[in-house]
Amino acid sequence: MKIAVIGRGNVGGGLADLWERAGHEVRRIGREGGDVSDAEVVLVAVPGGTIAEALDNVGGIEGKTVIDATNLVGVEPPEDFSSNAEYVKSRTNAPTAKSFNINFASLYDRLGEAGSTPSNLWCGDEEARQVVEQLTRDAGYEPVYAGPLENASVQENFLKLIIGISQGGLGPFLYRMAPPDQL
Ligand SMILES: NC(=O)c1ccc[n+]([C@@H]2O[C@H](COP(=O)([O-])OP(=O)(O)OC[C@H]3O[C@@H](n4cnc5c(N)ncnc54)[C@H](OP(=O)(O)O)[C@@H]3O)[C@@H](O)[C@H]2O)c1
Repeated sequence: MKIAVIGRGNVGGGLADLWERAGHEVRRIGREGGDVSDAEVVLVAVPGGTIAEALDNVGGIEGKTVIDATNLVGVEPPEDFSSNAEYVKSRTNAPTAKSFNINFASLYDRLGEAGSTPSNLWCGDEEARQVVEQLTRDAGYEPVYAGPLENASVQENFLKLIIGISQGGLGPFLYRMAPPDQL
């Protein structure tokens, strides 16, 4: 699959590496922007508060299936939107999924150590299902569908619970997934 990744950090760079190992062709785009006309799917993995600016710098994104992996840490989604994912869809008018925002990039290289295949939540449009579920499996996760795109704000806010559970010392399972200093 031809994939464009916007944001070359822990998530964008890490997933790009995993997908390349799985045989996909990945174009990595940073804050300088670029063109995604050739891509079959676009991953957005920039700091949550920069999503509008990041999309402004990318050409050819309208009509593209997008997977939005951003989280909103200390910031709100763009005005009039309840989630970044719904904002993305307003810019693309195309199939959109919220995914990869609840897994820790620091563990991408350790997925093979898990006793069973780790899950990766996604919510979003049915038209995005095939692509997001294939890319989830190709990254080493099992996809778990979490409902339509209207659930994206809940999935974005879910991160607060994960951090709360981990910092509260109540989550031995989470500690096994990621040491607290890597959250
Ligand atoms: N880290 C995790 O475990 C994790 C897990 C799930 C979701 N997330 C979410 O995923 C997103 C990315 O996280 P990350 O850990 O990968 O962050 P990161 O390592 O800081 O990488 C962010 C990337 O976005 C780029 N960027 C910043 N502003 C941009 C813009 N306006 N246009 C294009 N690119 C821009 C940065 O470019 P420069 O290199 O030039 O600064 C950097 O390459 C965040 O929303 C985060 O909350 C993180």
